[in-house]
Amino acid sequence: MTKPDEHQPPLHLAELQANAERVLPRMVFDYYAGGAHDEITLRENRAAFERMTLHYRVLRDVSRRTTEVELFGQQLTMPVLLAPTAFHQMATEEGELATARAAAAAGTVMILSTLSTRSIEEVSAASGGRLWFQLYVYRDRVATRELVARAEAAGARALVLTVDAQVWGVRERDVRNSFQLPAGLRMANLATSGKSDFPEVEGSGLAAYANSMFDQSLSWADLEWLCSISNLPVLVKGLVRGDDAGMAMEHGAAGVIVSNHGGRQLDTAPAPISVLPEVVEGVAGRGTILMDCGVRRGTDVVKALALGASAVCIGRPILWGLATGGEAGVTEVLEMLRRELDLAMALCGARSINELTSDLVG
Ligand code: FNR
Ligand code: LAC
Repeated sequence: MTKPDEHQPPLHLAELQANAERVLPRMVFDYYAGGAHDEITLRENRAAFERMTLHYRVLRDVSRRTTEVELFGQQLTMPVLLAPTAFHQMATEEGELATARAAAAAGTVMILSTLSTRSIEEVSAASGGRLWFQLYVYRDRVATRELVARAEAAGARALVLTVDAQVWGVRERDVRNSFQLPAGLRMANLATSGKSDFPEVEGSGLAAYANSMFDQSLSWADLEWLCSISNLPVLVKGLVRGDDAGMAMEHGAAGVIVSNHGGRQLDTAPAPISVLPEVVEGVAGRGTILMDCGVRRGTDVVKALALGASAVCIGRPILWGLATGGEAGVTEVLEMLRRELDLAMALCGARSINELTSDLVG
């Protein structure tokens, strides 16, 4: 990999991380970049992609190509969505509004985190109808229902239920930095229910918040409950097993997002790309499969789609784009990945997404 240089525009997503590290306060950079415990899963998310080879086809006339896909009735210009990540105002003043505008301009979809620093309604207005909402289930079910109703009323097209964080992973960087929201920032969606600030504690304020607020009793019955209170398709995010994916389908999910939360929850969990074939088997054609974690190159997107995902999501690169260039920075991230995906497809002999088949991956 080439070394990033302050005076040169970044050539790929990993270079943006080094640039973001120069401009962000240490506490914020560490929160965005970090993973749980020894960060073994965080590294494995990249390593697993790097171990896989692409067995490209030749002489297939790739002069005309498209990266378009359709998800839940909506056309996307490419199979790359923005994963839900919290607290975008730590990266740039406009926060999630900048992210939503960039996602809309790129013709893709932003998944808004429950823990956003701008409200669902504001972000939706900036999203051009290209918004899904990620849900954390609070012990307070009235507050949870209110979040779901607001997301639906604001025009979100799908709900993403995160299931890998009922108990918070220990991110040791956050413990060491006593991670707190910078002054003036709040969890905007929780203002009406009085849950918009972290408690004042030693160590990670977010961990203390999540462990006291989120419902640790969550079970498959709650997935059915969520499906029953909303008309939107529900995707289950954060599983890494075929049998769990099958259970998600049986309990009403419209799809799954294979994910280990960017290596931030259970350390030594497998990389989603490694377990994708098993999840495809578990879902058995009954729902839509997305994946995230470690997607940084166009070739990574090709590998995930070839192994059965309909699309991927990217988390941290969006934050690096926001930190270094606000809305334009996110646009740059998405366009870099779009160019790389188009190139990787062409060099694989694939003219459209449906030509990305599992025989390409070794
Ligand atoms: C996340 N992630 C996350 N997931 C979720 O369901 N709700 C959330 O609020 C957040 N917040 C969040 C903040 C930060 C700073 C990170 C890095 C991650 C997990 C996220 O959706 C996604 O699964 C991973 O980030 C994907 O991995 P990469 O692309 O960051 O490697
Ligand atoms: C995180 C959240 C908020 O991983 O999901 O920090």
